[in-house]
Amino acid sequence: MNEQIRGYLVEAKPYYKPVANEVELFRAAYGRRMPMILKGPTGCGKTRFMEFMAWSLNKPLITLACNEDMTASDLVGRYLLDADGTRWHDGPLTVAARHGGICYLDEVVEARQDTTVIIHPLTDDRRILPLDKRGELVHAHPDFQLVVSYNPGYQSATKDLKQSTKQRFGAIEFHYPKQAEETAIVAHESGVGDDIAAKLVGIAHRSRGLRGRGLEEGISTRMLIHAGLLIADGIKPREACALAMAKPITDDEDMTQALNGFIEAYFGP
Ligand SMILES: Nc1ncnc2c1ncn2[C@@H]1O[C@H](COP(=O)(O)OP(=O)(O)OP(=O)(O)O)[C@@H](O)[C@H]1O
Ligand SMILES: [Mg+2]
Repeated sequence: MNEQIRGYLVEAKPYYKPVANEVELFRAAYGRRMPMILKGPTGCGKTRFMEFMAWSLNKPLITLACNEDMTASDLVGRYLLDADGTRWHDGPLTVAARHGGICYLDEVVEARQDTTVIIHPLTDDRRILPLDKRGELVHAHPDFQLVVSYNPGYQSATKDLKQSTKQRFGAIEFHYPKQAEETAIVAHESGVGDDIAAKLVGIAHRSRGLRGRGLEEGISTRMLIHAGLLIADGIKPREACALAMAKPITDDEDMTQALNGFIEAYFGP
């Protein structure tokens, strides 16, 4: 394995608790080097899953968070000036394609569509990446796979992926874990006991029922871990829940009261 890409291997086994058969499905998709979309609400475990899979497949993982100012050069590379003049620097997508690794583009819908099309020849049976500025055609390494993450529902019509992009990928949908699993995850990640973790999960469940009825999104696993970490540090559960779970997700008075009601139902007034 090339030295530059070796640094992207995931060294320690990431803690990941499967919620369905996603590990098996992803393994099969990687076997075919199928480009994949990981879909699901924020804070439900997509990034952790990707780290776990890269570790388990023993492949380097290069992650890039997308944003609307991102250009094709940020993905494929550019000429940079140094002491000896201008020198070409491969971008993260090119490093993964050239040397063999998984390139994970987080929040891919944030990138402009004219940037996203750069991945098209890489994600069909050609598996090539043209570096126009350099006059080079990179043939993807056999280990290369492209994976993108995507939060369905948040983006407007103008900020969706083109059909011609979507149809190059397979997709795995993620949901928040079942109550018992989510409790185990929150306890493991934050250090609180199962009893407190179960209460945090109970509050989250109720909040998720308000999705689309005043809340854009329910309380995520990530937020429960934040609350758990503060509780483990000695902060009163009610205050930890307000800080980490209720206040960040809504500014609405009625919604805040509803969430506080859920918190009191589990941790008392
Ligand atoms: N199935 C799981 N196993 C282990 N940990 C999990 C699992 N699901 C969620 N977590 C925990 O929840 C945290 C948030 O998950 P993660 O960062 O992977 O979310 P995400 O889906 O990538 O969110 P975003 O869309 O905002 O990037 C993780 O750091 C991890 O601690
Ligand atoms: Mg993520």
